[in-house]
Amino acid sequence: MLSKDIEKVLVSPTEIQSIVKRLGETLTDDYKDKFPLVIGLLKGCVPFMADLLKELDFPLEIDYMNVSSYHGGVESTGDVKIIMDVGTPVKNRHVLIAEDIVDSGRTIRAVAELLHYRGAKEVKIVTLLDKPTGRIVEMTPEYVGVNIPNAFVVGYGLDYEEKYRNLPYVGTLKPQIYSKIKE
Ligand code: IMP
Repeated sequence: MLSKDIEKVLVSPTEIQSIVKRLGETLTDDYKDKFPLVIGLLKGCVPFMADLLKELDFPLEIDYMNVSSYHGGVESTGDVKIIMDVGTPVKNRHVLIAEDIVDSGRTIRAVAELLHYRGAKEVKIVTLLDKPTGRIVEMTPEYVGVNIPNAFVVGYGLDYEEKYRNLPYVGTLKPQIYSKIKE
């Protein structure tokens, strides 16, 4: 039913599975002795983080933050708002932020700066998707699942007006979906 709104599948469930497995192996090598705090950025991180955690074979803690930058549209406004803060103290911790997508880089940079300010020992980013051509601020995520072109995508956590997060793949929406909502 939801799939009828999708123009093109960019990252299939099988591709997601192998990306997550690869990231899990790399992160297990890099973090096995660090007892990191993995902070997922809600709401988009949910499917990715759930799958990734199962591939991380070392002691860790998890927590979540909810920050918003898009306010429901398709273009970033650049203002980042904390809706729900992280509960676990980050001081002296190795922090790994889990994000669904990095676009302009503003969200992740604002969060990383805040966590550094609060005394985190190290802050690194793992993102399923990266849109490097969308970058407005300087930000290079340390762990990237896959680079995608500068198009608006939905699925596997990513939404358009809060819908499509539950699709098992990442894809682009048919243009008429935007126009229908705008009418
Ligand atoms: P940035 O601050 O521009 O890097 O955007 C990061 C946030 O914007 C992500 O966590 C998403 O919530 C949202 N976002 C960026 N690109 C897309 C997209 O193509 N589809 C859905 N949400 C997106």
